[in-house]
Amino acid sequence: MKKVVVILSIFTYAFSNVARADEGMWLPFLIGRNYEDMKKHGLKLTQEQIYSINNSSLKDAVISFGGFCTGEVISSQGLVLTNHHCGYDAIAGASTPEKNYLDNGFWAKNHSEEIKVPGLTATFMIRMEDVTAQVVKELNSKMTNEERAKKIKEITDILVKDASSTGYEAFVSDFYNGNEFYLFVKQTYKDVRLVGTPPQSAGKYGGDTDNWVWPRHTADFSMFRIYAGKDNNPSVISDDNVPLKPKHSLPVSIKGVKPGDYAMIMGFPGRTNRYLTSYGVEQAITLEQPKIVDVRAKKLEIMKKYMDKDVAVRLNYSSKYAQVANYWKYYIGQTQQLKYNKVADKKRAVETEFLKYANGKSEFDGVLSDIEKAFKATDEIIYIKVYHSEFTRQVDMNSLVYMYKLALDAKANGNEERAKMLMEAAAAQAETMYTERNMDIEFETVEEVLKMYLTDVSAAQRLGILNSLSPASVKVFMSRVKKHSIFANKERYEAFMKNFSADEMKKDPLFILVKDLDDSYQKAMSKASVKEANDKLARGNRLFVKAVREMQPNKKFYPNANSTMRLTYGNVLAYEPRDAVKYDYYTTIDGMMAKEDDTNPEFFVDKRMKEVWQKKDYGQYGENGKLVVNFLTNNDITGGNSGSPCINGNGELIGTAFDGNWEAMSGDIYFEPNIQRTIVCDIRYVLWIMDKCYGATNLVNEMKLVK
Ligand code: ARG
Repeated sequence: MKKVVVILSIFTYAFSNVARADEGMWLPFLIGRNYEDMKKHGLKLTQEQIYSINNSSLKDAVISFGGFCTGEVISSQGLVLTNHHCGYDAIAGASTPEKNYLDNGFWAKNHSEEIKVPGLTATFMIRMEDVTAQVVKELNSKMTNEERAKKIKEITDILVKDASSTGYEAFVSDFYNGNEFYLFVKQTYKDVRLVGTPPQSAGKYGGDTDNWVWPRHTADFSMFRIYAGKDNNPSVISDDNVPLKPKHSLPVSIKGVKPGDYAMIMGFPGRTNRYLTSYGVEQAITLEQPKIVDVRAKKLEIMKKYMDKDVAVRLNYSSKYAQVANYWKYYIGQTQQLKYNKVADKKRAVETEFLKYANGKSEFDGVLSDIEKAFKATDEIIYIKVYHSEFTRQVDMNSLVYMYKLALDAKANGNEERAKMLMEAAAAQAETMYTERNMDIEFETVEEVLKMYLTDVSAAQRLGILNSLSPASVKVFMSRVKKHSIFANKERYEAFMKNFSADEMKKDPLFILVKDLDDSYQKAMSKASVKEANDKLARGNRLFVKAVREMQPNKKFYPNANSTMRLTYGNVLAYEPRDAVKYDYYTTIDGMMAKEDDTNPEFFVDKRMKEVWQKKDYGQYGENGKLVVNFLTNNDITGGNSGSPCINGNGELIGTAFDGNWEAMSGDIYFEPNIQRTIVCDIRYVLWIMDKCYGATNLVNEMKLVK
């Protein structure tokens, strides 16, 4: 059951010692479908202990951390474990050159030292329900995509309204590319405080060099605490709040792991594209991904130049830099491995089977050729799309201006309420912009990426000023921006906002640039051929997935990740990355020390950790004179799962999942059973750092250790 498409077995590698693959991001409320198989893998819990709406269960210890990562509750006082790279923004945000927690680490000795993090949230899943029948009965095959979407919204709005109640929010997401619909009820806590972190030399050990790579030696963890009002319910940040009393917290096993041990991960994977066709794969590797990589490389180069010169700048840009770098390397790896793992061929094999199945079934007529045509028709808008996201929206300077552009658009369309909301959001963003951002970095980025844009985006697609600019004239244009734009610095911006005038703003050179970038993009997207292609794609994908499921009625399928809670189960397991090479399933601190390099910040080792290592003082966290740092499982995770609990067969925490491996970077599009692994930070390494290195015994004592 583990592979998306069984017929592909001819393509799978024949490794002798590899156990079965454990593909699948399953919905916890439907786990009964997998339960017998989970027991075969070594699970000792009942279904009710994993997911229950009446009694506390594992799901009650798992949170969506800030909406972008996962965390787990590990004490009866709301203590949360997540990854270092998930806490990174909060840690860097709390750091100054004087109180440099990012570089030196931080451990709160008591609740009063815990650091409030405005905006950070912790969301629990209260319940989940399949509402497909209610939605689908109102739909029919004659509807256009637009009509279909409208109807779906109409029905799900009612379902959501019925399921929401004080303190609980509901939402409906679609699954299997629009074929099924599930309702979720969640509860969000809004006071989450930073409790502890190792120095980033440990928490990010190996830096971008080791990122996405095994073998690995990273202490990728940090700790937070959820605070609630006196009634244990969510409350805005307040000194009156108290630590949350959770429904469930995970006991922590320090027994260690062996190959073949049961391992499961619950969390909030963000996005996979496992049903993508060969046409989509080709477009991604030839056009989209290389361009994202180019633009990100340029942004990184510019940030780094300034970050290396000044600690305050480095602290302010660390989180931004890490985010850009993470997916810069992700796309390099994904393009490479989609090719190396021959993913397009594997997809074509599925498509051949699909065509056989679809033959003579009018419902599936033209589905695949529609998908093919749609991708062809959208090739021409890929670059402008990449720049809209990577340049207009993700370069902070531009994104601030973009927000004002949207606000003025809303105003022009008579949507006063939206305009007001956007103006407020823009003002808040400006506050961050002008206190934390460095104008040299921002303007150099705008200048350099604009040159790339003018080279990559055809003149026919460019509107307004973008038509009169060329790479050679960008420099002059940018000096005008720096000299005259109201956005060029805090003083000018604030002075302008005191006497705000929409007409004046519209004359601003940077505003004009961002407006023309957005207008060019909107025009490209609304071209009839592109709209038609996107419609074809939505319909084609839905029917393709429907057929792929129908043609294998006995196979268990799971839907793509979409930030809803999932569970993946399997075992602790090594792998063989390539011919003649075998990797072990764990790394030790000796391997970390062997890579130490005091000339390269990516491989610095904190003095204190080195001291304790030299004494071999591993205490109860060591095993046969060794200290395990990271280990591997064959669980199926992706971005968003970061920080997820890795749980053994008894429901105890054995580590926190933090990464995937290089050889399977194509995994979000096609799961590679023999070589795809999850990299987990062993909980014993977490505890050793806290307890033996930095004396955070107050926190270790909160946990329930299973020895
Ligand atoms: N690749 C990891 C993920 O996306 C993030 C690792 C962060 N560490 C780093 N050195 N950048 O889940």
